[in-house]
Amino acid sequence: MGFSLGLSKYIKFNSKKFSLVIFNQRLPFIYIFFNTLYKKFIANKNVNDQIKKFHQSGFTKLKVNVTEIIDEYKDKFLIEEIKNDKDVKRQFFSLNDLDKKNFIVKIKNKLRPSIDQLESYFNCDVVISDVKMIRNYNHHDKHNLDIEHYSNHFHQDSYLMTYNKIFINLMDISENDGPLEIVPDEMRKSFIKSFNYKDRNDYNTSGDSSLIYKNTGKKGDCFLFSSPRVFHRAGVPQKFRDNMVIIIITIPKHYHQNLNIKSEENLFENNYKYFQKFVKPYSIIRVVKLFIEFYKYKFYIKRES
Ligand SMILES: [Fe+2]
Repeated sequence: MGFSLGLSKYIKFNSKKFSLVIFNQRLPFIYIFFNTLYKKFIANKNVNDQIKKFHQSGFTKLKVNVTEIIDEYKDKFLIEEIKNDKDVKRQFFSLNDLDKKNFIVKIKNKLRPSIDQLESYFNCDVVISDVKMIRNYNHHDKHNLDIEHYSNHFHQDSYLMTYNKIFINLMDISENDGPLEIVPDEMRKSFIKSFNYKDRNDYNTSGDSSLIYKNTGKKGDCFLFSSPRVFHRAGVPQKFRDNMVIIIITIPKHYHQNLNIKSEENLFENNYKYFQKFVKPYSIIRVVKLFIEFYKYKFYIKRES
């Protein structure tokens, strides 16, 4: 008992380091285990080319553009002007409750075909758990790994692969506008070697840049990525970059059908914490139980449809 407790503590404490050495990932090893089994036994690989790419590389551009919706609402986005406070490197846009609700409903409708495909891929229901609109500013600490302003060091988000993000460009984004940078899944091993990657504040910033994919594109472009699976960072723009982040969670319907997710203005404040326990479980037992549940659910929805 004493031994196994000690051992599990040791594994937990060191598990990200352990994962990096063995699996080239900086995630709790039980999450890697979950993800590997999910991809093999639950994920449906018979999906369209974009989601196939998502399965293989951990990211994909979606065949949809929402410029018209952004333009319709852009005058309603509010942001505090930065005066002389140079310490502010990231700000959030806000919309009033009604506009926010309508805006998100419209975006959701446009994304619906992609979300349907994702549900088919995950063999499970997929819901939006959070939406943020963000402006990142320029800063001069790009190569200083001791200071991080807005996830601008390479990292993986510490979640299960059932947690994903859709980024929507709120402006045209070129190389100079600090696009999101991603290491495709198949490049991960080379990336860790080339950048001598140890942790988000311990790697060589001048590794082989050809291993990195940059999410440049047009206003309204939508980009799906698995932030727990792929190493990624926010690029540093010359001026600023405006971006919308939609967090999508894979979760069986019976866990969310009673939540207030039809009413978008209440969704994000009230339900975000609830969703966390499904995508960021804190014990090995909980991860195993979740896996079994997703596995059973796959056959349940097959029977239903
Ligand atoms: Fe991240």
